[in-house]
Amino acid sequence: MAVERTLSIIKPDAVEQNNVGNILAMIQAAGLKILGLRMLHLTRRQAEGFYEVHKARPFFGELVEFMTRGPVVVSALEGEDAVARYRKLMGATSPADAEKGTIRKLYGSDVGENACHGSDSVENGAIEVAYFFPEYLLK
Ligand code: RTP
Ligand code: MG
Repeated sequence: MAVERTLSIIKPDAVEQNNVGNILAMIQAAGLKILGLRMLHLTRRQAEGFYEVHKARPFFGELVEFMTRGPVVVSALEGEDAVARYRKLMGATSPADAEKGTIRKLYGSDVGENACHGSDSVENGAIEVAYFFPEYLLK
């Protein structure tokens, strides 16, 4: 198995509810290495650019509103099979469907406000890490 990079975003709902530390602790307990970490308030343009693939979806406007309503914590994670391992740790998109003990089951509220984002492929992991941590393109 290969060492991969994946991007995590702790979304505004989880930041508002003081769950940043809890989620970072779960990431570290799972053995994923935090390469880089930043708290920022996404601009509309950044959120629209990041979720460009969902532009045509009916929930796009709501998603951009949500992702820009308060600060988020983005982190670049690294480890063996990191993309799939972090997706598993997050749980299903809808907290109602997420497995017990996952981040979304513990801290998500509904299909929109689901506490965290994780890259969905190795290719997107590299692209998304570069979106927020351009310096890692060189390493
Ligand atoms: P993410 O990209 O945030 O890690 O989530 P995901 O892969 O599990 O789900 P995706 O299909 O990529 O959806 C992106 C985000 O859009 C919001 N969403 N709302 N109202 C709805 O039906 C709906 N569906 C998706 C969620 O915040 C989801 O994480
Ligand atoms: Mg996705």
